[in-house]
Amino acid sequence: MIRLEQVSKTFHPGTVNEVPALRPVDLVVEEGEFITIIGSNGAGKSTLFNLVAGTYPPSTGSIRINEIDVTREPEYRRARYIGRIFQDPLLGTAGSMTLEDNMMICLRKGFKGLKISLNRKQRQWFQEQLVDLEMGLERRMKDNVRLLSGGQRQALTLLMMVLSRPDLILLDEHSAALDPRNAALVLELTRRYIEEYRLTAMMITHNMQHAITFGTRLLMMDKGEVILDVQGEEKASLTVDGLVERFHAIRHRDLESDEARLSL
Ligand SMILES: Nc1ncnc2c1ncn2[C@@H]1O[C@H](COP(=O)(O)OP(=O)(O)OP(=O)(O)O)[C@@H](O)[C@H]1O
Ligand SMILES: [Mg+2]
Repeated sequence: MIRLEQVSKTFHPGTVNEVPALRPVDLVVEEGEFITIIGSNGAGKSTLFNLVAGTYPPSTGSIRINEIDVTREPEYRRARYIGRIFQDPLLGTAGSMTLEDNMMICLRKGFKGLKISLNRKQRQWFQEQLVDLEMGLERRMKDNVRLLSGGQRQALTLLMMVLSRPDLILLDEHSAALDPRNAALVLELTRRYIEEYRLTAMMITHNMQHAITFGTRLLMMDKGEVILDVQGEEKASLTVDGLVERFHAIRHRDLESDEARLSL
């Protein structure tokens, strides 16, 4: 369980450049929840992720993971229980290493530092997972990862993340840089892994339909605030038009032009 209490972030406080990127927020993420997050550019979505991941400390408030206070814990330590995938497919895997070596590294992470090498059984398990991806990756275990396409790399990053058994996964528009076909593949894979391995996940997307279709709970952010938090029946009955109307009712203004693409 992830618990945020009054967590906020202000950049350059007390200067003319002061940015209240995240207003104080209380948020509890229960085990097994799959939260989708939407909101316009600059709404504070990535800032929220950076705070949870420990990229920088919050200006106020506390963050607990499984009741352990990690507010001051640096990012590399939190990486033991948080998996994160970014928009850029190059960030999740080591391009100059083979597919097999990439996988071995994340297995070690999953075993919390125990030194292991890839035995026959594990190799076979990887092979099966790769066959399952239907991207032909099972024949490329000895290839350097830099030779793979963006979609293949993002799929591999997902698989590696699952192997490291994180308590929480943070997906920051992880399919946005891919072509529509690969984006759909990666999203479907995301859904499958989250279900199969009962992962707890938060996924930022600019696509309102995806935010509605995927996940068990939806947060809408605007100007550093969580303005909508729905789950269950209420989430299941959402529509894109309905969401646009809810936004208007809450903020008394229309979604801005950059947000129009949200509904695509
Ligand atoms: N390191 C930083 N220093 C100063 N300001 C920052 C920093 N990071 C983010 N901001 C500002 O904080 C606000 C929130 O940014 P954030 O990146 O969280 O938005 P976002 O919701 O992820 O937007 P996008 O959809 O464009 O990715 C923005 O005004 C942004 O310019
Ligand atoms: Mg962002």
